[in-house]
Amino acid sequence: MTDPALPNKQRAARAALALLQKDMILGVGTGSTVNAFIELLVSEGAARHLRGAVASSEATSARLRAAGVALLDLNELGDLPLYVDGADEATRARQLIKGGGGALTREKIIAAAARRFVCIVDESKVVERLGRFPLPVEVIPMARSYVARRLAGFGGRPVWRQSTTTDNGNHILDVHGLTITDARWLESEINQIVGVVSVGLFAARPADALLIGRDSGVETV
Ligand code: A5P
Repeated sequence: MTDPALPNKQRAARAALALLQKDMILGVGTGSTVNAFIELLVSEGAARHLRGAVASSEATSARLRAAGVALLDLNELGDLPLYVDGADEATRARQLIKGGGGALTREKIIAAAARRFVCIVDESKVVERLGRFPLPVEVIPMARSYVARRLAGFGGRPVWRQSTTTDNGNHILDVHGLTITDARWLESEINQIVGVVSVGLFAARPADALLIGRDSGVETV
């Protein structure tokens, strides 16, 4: 099935391509918008000018490897100059919900280690307030029920994503129906629940720039 948002994902991805520099070490996220970015890396010949990349998932690692990009270990590197990734929801304050693809923890690590985080989205992802998209929370498997009970205390309905084990061997709870008025506060509160590995709110460390692909072109926020 073709994705109706694909042309706008490709527009945003192409705008991010213009930010690359020769010999750069790039952080690369996960998802269909990033896949469009990786395809452009290859078709536009930019892949061979990179020194290498740090990937946020095994799926992205496989795509980058196939594109001939050297995969690097973040532990061997300093801060990264640039991280390019998509999002499930984004506000114009550049706060995000991520983790629909289950890669939230590695995405958070790369975002934290990146001097510049550029988020590429199609216009359907832009919202006034975060929370329509169920909020992913990665949990240590034995803590899943405990964490779910604590999460319910914030007014949402946690649902175990039974089809998914993360690249880190953990489980994911998707919290439906949250009213998120203070994303930084909620991110901090959820981070403190024992058994939580990470929460897919990117509010304390939002994106530095949002590239929004629209039918009319790309808007930079
Ligand atoms: C992966 O875990 C997510 O954070 C993705 O960045 C997010 O799901 C965006 O994916 P799409 O580009 O496929 O919408």
